[in-house]
Amino acid sequence: RKKIGILTSGGDCAGLNAVVRAVTRCAIKVYGWEVWGICKATHGLMSHPPEAIQLSVKQVDPYLTMGGTFLGTTNKGDPFAFPMIDGSFVDRSHRIIEGYHKLGLDALIGIGGDGSLAILRKLAQQGGINLVGIPKTIDNDVGVTERSIGFDTAVNIATEAIDRLHFTAASHSRVMIVEVMGRDAGHIALNAGIAGGANIILIPEIPYNLENICNYIKERQARGRDYSIAVVSEAVCTDTGELLEQGHFADCRLGGIGQYLSEKITAISDAETRVTVLGHTQRGGISSPLDRILASAFGVAAVELIAEEKYDRMVTWQERSVKSVPITEAIKDYRTVDPHGTLIKTARGLNICLGD
Ligand code: F6P
Repeated sequence: RKKIGILTSGGDCAGLNAVVRAVTRCAIKVYGWEVWGICKATHGLMSHPPEAIQLSVKQVDPYLTMGGTFLGTTNKGDPFAFPMIDGSFVDRSHRIIEGYHKLGLDALIGIGGDGSLAILRKLAQQGGINLVGIPKTIDNDVGVTERSIGFDTAVNIATEAIDRLHFTAASHSRVMIVEVMGRDAGHIALNAGIAGGANIILIPEIPYNLENICNYIKERQARGRDYSIAVVSEAVCTDTGELLEQGHFADCRLGGIGQYLSEKITAISDAETRVTVLGHTQRGGISSPLDRILASAFGVAAVELIAEEKYDRMVTWQERSVKSVPITEAIKDYRTVDPHGTLIKTARGLNICLGD
């Protein structure tokens, strides 16, 4: 009878609770194991005694649809250089490893993006932790896997926002700029932009030219289409190639690339513009059916890897099924939009302006 732990690490997203539920149901119902939920990512293992709760099927079942993570999470504090109040950094990795062994765990399932999975793997290698990874992130940029948990819900939320903005944009003859998350990858912008019928989509993978965008807006106006919707990824640079604010993702939301483009477009084309920054709304709420399905499939597959004692692997979605790869392979490179890929061709075929 195995005793396994599960934790959620890094930024939250929809579908995390559905994974915990799937792991708990499969581990208990199919294998008869014990499942422990670690609180606040690796921080729960750092505490003395470790902060963890034994999970039951009855407890986790209602969490299937719920956004966020009931276990709590954090994306602060690399345990190998953990920030102290006085500004110094200490190595806390041994405390996490101790916590894992103190709980008497046979294996740990870590749900995280590439950054969290890299840290968890380092801990696992150092401390004899039997680790299985599950990819989650609204950015959909974890290497190898075609889908990560949370992405579909984020695309749904962004699409719904774009749908709503069409009406107000048309009523006021405005250019509505929608700034979406995605870190260094344009997946959310590209997918939501196509789904929402955006006129302009700007992503970090395709350098843009402001004149092209303004000419496109003017051509639309000349054809009597006096409004436009532009979807912009948060990591799109200024036209002079600067990423607004280093550590950009936190600060530039207040006056980031959306605002920058709005001012530039107004100055060049005379169009009236407004900016909507979707921010963390993209991470919250009830998870989409697709995310729940993916979360359930990943959760079951992770338990099966543990049953087969195949560790140091991450479950993936490839070619319409769940597979697994060594974690090293998944964290080697993050996955950005292929500028020559299908969806870029689709966008061009729809005469969406990509700014190039
Ligand atoms: O990686 C997920 C993500 O939501 C990014 O899209 C965004 O840039 C970042 O996290 C925001 O991080 P935080 O919640 O720490 O502000």
